[in-house]
Amino acid sequence: MSLDLAIIGGTGLYTFPGLGDVEKRAVQTPFGEPSGHVVLGELTGRRVAFLARHGEAHTLAPHRVNYRANVWALHHLGARRVLGVNAVGGITEKMGPRVIAVPDQIIDYTHGRLDSFCDIEGAKVEHIDFTEPYSPALRAELIVAGKAANIAVVDGGCYGATQGPRLETRAEIARMRHDGCDLVGMTGMPEAALARELGIEYACLALVANWAAGCGGEASISLPEIYANLEAATAQVPPIVRALLAGK
Ligand code: HPA
Repeated sequence: MSLDLAIIGGTGLYTFPGLGDVEKRAVQTPFGEPSGHVVLGELTGRRVAFLARHGEAHTLAPHRVNYRANVWALHHLGARRVLGVNAVGGITEKMGPRVIAVPDQIIDYTHGRLDSFCDIEGAKVEHIDFTEPYSPALRAELIVAGKAANIAVVDGGCYGATQGPRLETRAEIARMRHDGCDLVGMTGMPEAALARELGIEYACLALVANWAAGCGGEASISLPEIYANLEAATAQVPPIVRALLAGK
């Protein structure tokens, strides 16, 4: 079976609006259980898979997500293009709350995550080129899709992946800004690297939920505000994805 696109939904995106004719698959993987069922369905006449990264009831914290099982399961079902939807904090000026960005770089600050398919007994070690961590082709299509859907999308930015589940300190974000990060999130890695290991075209749609700690003149981060911003940004995802599929 081949799939036109697989979507990994992050915080706030637990089912995909408009996905029709759905079938739920429980996939067994050599790496354990994925976050939940993979939902296979149809969107604008294309075959699409959807998986809720944190589980359908948001029970998995970022460091507890089985990224390997998730990526392996989607690949096993025929996904060759995967879109990761991730809630993020905004660090630099262009990345205010409710902005939608398609980052082009990653700095990985996570630790202790199972971050490679090579990490099993007897597996042949392959070193992947990760100079461009996201698929330039899929990124370009997302930018075009944003335009077609008449939704502003920021082209580029560096995603700093932190361990979570706590938000960062002001000093941590100041350091990340200095490092060159524009966005901060907890789930971008190792997902992107695992997708590359399997030869999947992977890109990220980053939804800015809040100014990161110490940014945007905010003294602290309000969780209700995060959820309100995220809901507004998440509502823009289906039209972008529909335009992406229509453009194929
Ligand atoms: N930091 C890390 N992850 C996030 C944030 C943040 O400020 N907001 C949404 N996800």
